[in-house]
Amino acid sequence: MNKLTVALLYNSKQNAPHVEGEPWDAWNELDSEKTAGQIERALRAGGHEVIAMEGDVTLPQKLSHYKIDIAFNICEGHFGGSREAQVPAILDMLRVPYTGAGVLALALALDKPMAKRVMAFHGLPTPLFQTFVTGNEPLDARLKFPLFAKPSREGSGIGVSAKSVCRNLRELREQVQFLIQEYRQPALVEEYIEGREFTLGLLGNLAWNIKAPQPDVEPEMALAGAAGNGKKARGNGNGRANKLLPQTLPTLRVFPPLEVDLSPCPEDQAGLYTSVIKSQMYDVPKYLCPAPTTKVLRNKMERLAVNAFAALECYDFARVDLRVRQDTGEPLILEVNPLAGLQEGISDIVMGAEAVGIGYTELINGILQAALRRYGLI
Ligand SMILES: Nc1ncnc2c1ncn2[C@@H]1O[C@H](COP(=O)(O)OP(=O)(O)O)[C@@H](O)[C@H]1O
Ligand SMILES: [Mg+2]
Repeated sequence: MNKLTVALLYNSKQNAPHVEGEPWDAWNELDSEKTAGQIERALRAGGHEVIAMEGDVTLPQKLSHYKIDIAFNICEGHFGGSREAQVPAILDMLRVPYTGAGVLALALALDKPMAKRVMAFHGLPTPLFQTFVTGNEPLDARLKFPLFAKPSREGSGIGVSAKSVCRNLRELREQVQFLIQEYRQPALVEEYIEGREFTLGLLGNLAWNIKAPQPDVEPEMALAGAAGNGKKARGNGNGRANKLLPQTLPTLRVFPPLEVDLSPCPEDQAGLYTSVIKSQMYDVPKYLCPAPTTKVLRNKMERLAVNAFAALECYDFARVDLRVRQDTGEPLILEVNPLAGLQEGISDIVMGAEAVGIGYTELINGILQAALRRYGLI
């Protein structure tokens, strides 16, 4: 491949625009200089020139000094309900191609209730839920305790703690009020899913030449090299199944499920993948990849991950978080992360890739290649 000029766009933790009284974990989603450096090195190892810059309001001016071929975007944004979509919107306006999901998928996935509505439309299982805007709304009678409360538009476990698990209406009202006031956004209340926790990384694209891919794709059909094997996608029973054409099915890889075994974590984290664990004790959980599961469960989770990727119209890479209900063994999608963390040796998708022999440099350049192919640039 030709040497490209790649703009690495990120929002650095050290540039976080702190405001007084903000929650302690407010900026946990932002990336460290170390992560940016790792991505930069990987892209250089791929033979490219890299210009790294903060994705802030001066971005258009900064970009205008260079002839950029493509941006490698990991900007989480700072403010606004759709903050992850802001830099991609600017790049679309400037007609600069970029890696990862577009404006719509980023805005959608950041808003967990909205993403759950889209997944539900496509028949994808996700915990029953209700959104609380004031906190005083009557509780939906279908929701049975224990319930789980978290912010609607955060990531990295922000706002998730032992208090997220609410055993009665009093605890729920208290936690919902806390979340609304502290994080200044609606609270999402879900059924609490007791059971094992998994996450699946994905690399590549489904049908990049189709503007609106529809779900129901066999994971094995989506794997590299499996295109055109004559298998047909099975319906998912909701009448909206769509058969993707074989020639449009080349290169989405789903990495094996990674189990996050939280049992070694302190009891006060309540078996949850909290902000504290993700930011301060990421080496305490056991990360098992490929996770020890039955083939049936693994297939189910891979199918859900691929279909969630398609339903939300993710591009190039993503990660899908699930919990498997202990009583029924049913996997449920907690959320889709179109901007999965990319810390070398640490982030879940990086571990997933390693499990199938894809090293860090290959993963980062794989994301770049997927985007270039999607834009028709290679
Ligand atoms: N409905 C739920 N039931 C049980 N645990 C949950 C539920 N939702 C979230 N969690 C726990 O909280 C963690 C973070 O929630 P998640 O929805 O993945 O948000 P984030 O964007 O912060 O990763 C999960 O990894 C899981 O441990
Ligand atoms: Mg998550």
